[in-house]
Amino acid sequence: MASVELEHLQKRYGDTLVVASLDLQVRDGELLVLVGPSGCGKSTTLRMVAGLEEISAGTLKIGGRVANDLSPRDRDIAMVFQSYALYPHMSVYENMAFGLRIRKLDPADIDRRVRDAARFLELEPLLERRPKALSGGQRQRVAMGRAVVREPAVFLFDEPLSNLDAKLRVQMRIEVARLHERLRATILYVTHDQVEAMTLADRIAVMHKGVLQQVASPDVIYRQPANTFVATFIGSPAMNLWPVTLEADATVAPGAAGGPTFRADGGCVQLTLKGNLGAAAAQLGPGPATLGVRPQDLEPCAENEAELRLRVAVVEPLGAETYVYGNAAEKPFAAASSRDEATVERVASPSIVRLDPQTRPRLGDVIPLRLRAGAGHLFAADGLRVDASGAP
Ligand SMILES: Nc1ncnc2c1ncn2[C@@H]1O[C@H](COP(=O)(O)OP(=O)(O)O)[C@@H](O)[C@H]1O
Ligand SMILES: [Mg+2]
Repeated sequence: MASVELEHLQKRYGDTLVVASLDLQVRDGELLVLVGPSGCGKSTTLRMVAGLEEISAGTLKIGGRVANDLSPRDRDIAMVFQSYALYPHMSVYENMAFGLRIRKLDPADIDRRVRDAARFLELEPLLERRPKALSGGQRQRVAMGRAVVREPAVFLFDEPLSNLDAKLRVQMRIEVARLHERLRATILYVTHDQVEAMTLADRIAVMHKGVLQQVASPDVIYRQPANTFVATFIGSPAMNLWPVTLEADATVAPGAAGGPTFRADGGCVQLTLKGNLGAAAAQLGPGPATLGVRPQDLEPCAENEAELRLRVAVVEPLGAETYVYGNAAEKPFAAASSRDEATVERVASPSIVRLDPQTRPRLGDVIPLRLRAGAGHLFAADGLRVDASGAP
C-alpha cells in the first residue's frame, strides 16, 4: 500500500481552470472520498492521479515518489469506473485474468489471484459467464475483482455505483466497505452522492467548482461544516439557511461568558442565541450573518415560545419520519410588526422540518417551532463557519 499526495495540483484547459491548486493527502490504507456536485472536477482529479490526464501544475506523489511523469502502468494503481468497461466476449474469469496475462504473471499465480478475488466477491458461480449474462451489480463486482487481482498500491474509484438502482447501490456500498476492511487498501473514491461519502469514508474531501472546501472525518464534516456550501451539500434534506441580522439583545441577561446576548432576526426567525451559538455570535458581532439549522433540529412548541412559524406547503410522510416544507411566518413577531405594521406575512426562506411520523399537518397549517438546545450553525457574511468552540 502507499499514500497519495496532491500538492497544489492544478488542471486547466486553455483559460479554464477546472481544478484549482488542490492540496490533499490520501493516507496509507485510508479510504478518502472526494465528493462534490457534477462538474466540480472530481474525475479530472482522479484521472490526473491515474495518469490519464496531464497535470497542468503541482506535484503528485504516490508512495512518497513524484509520479507526475510516470506512465499509468508504472503508477501501481487500479481504477474502477462507473461504466464497468468489461470485455463482452470474455468470461468473468478471463476478464479478471486479462490484465495479469498482459503483465506476463505466472499462470498459477494468476489462477490463485482470480479465484481468491472471486471467492471474496462471491463471483465463483459466475466465473464462466459472459458480462451480458450478469446483472449490473454483478458486473460491477467483476470490475472490482479485476482491480483487486492486480494487488495495486492504490485503488481509484470513479462513481462506481452510479449506474445501479437504489437498492443495489446500498448492497454494493457494503461490498466496497468490506473490500476496504479486508484489504486495508489506500482508496481514493469519487462520488457526487453525499450518502456514499458519509457511509464509506475514513475522511471526506468536499469539492466545489474545482476548489477544495473541507477535508475531515464524516462526523466533523456533518457537525462542523466549514462553510455554507458544505453545510447544505452534506445531509439530506439540506440544512436550512436563513439570512439574519445579529443584534445585541438587551431583553436577556448577558451570556455566561459575560458578553452581550445576541438575537438573530431574519424575518421568518427571531431567536436568542444561546450556548455555542451565542458565543459564535459574540465573536462575530452585530451585523448580517447566516443561521443554519438542520431539519431535525427544529421542534414543535407552544405558540408563545415560537422562534419560527412554518406555514405548511408540502408534507412528505416517509414512514419513519415526516418532512414538512413551508415558508413565511403567518403572524409577524412583535418586533417585526412594530417596524412594519402593514406586512402581515413576511417573506422568508423556504424551510424544511422533520417531524414525528404520527404528525400529519395539513396544507396551510402553521406550526410553531423552536430550535433544539445546542443546535444550529452560524456563518459569517462570506459564508464561512463561525465557531467559538475552537473547532476547525
Ligand atoms: N477536455 C476538456 N476541455 C474543457 N473542459 C473540460 C474538459 N474535460 C472536462 N472539462 C470540464 O471540467 C469540469 C470538471 O469535469 P469533471 O472532472 O468531469 O467533473 P466531475 O467528475 O466532478 O463531474 C467540467 O466543467 C467539464 O466541463
Ligand atoms: Mg465525473
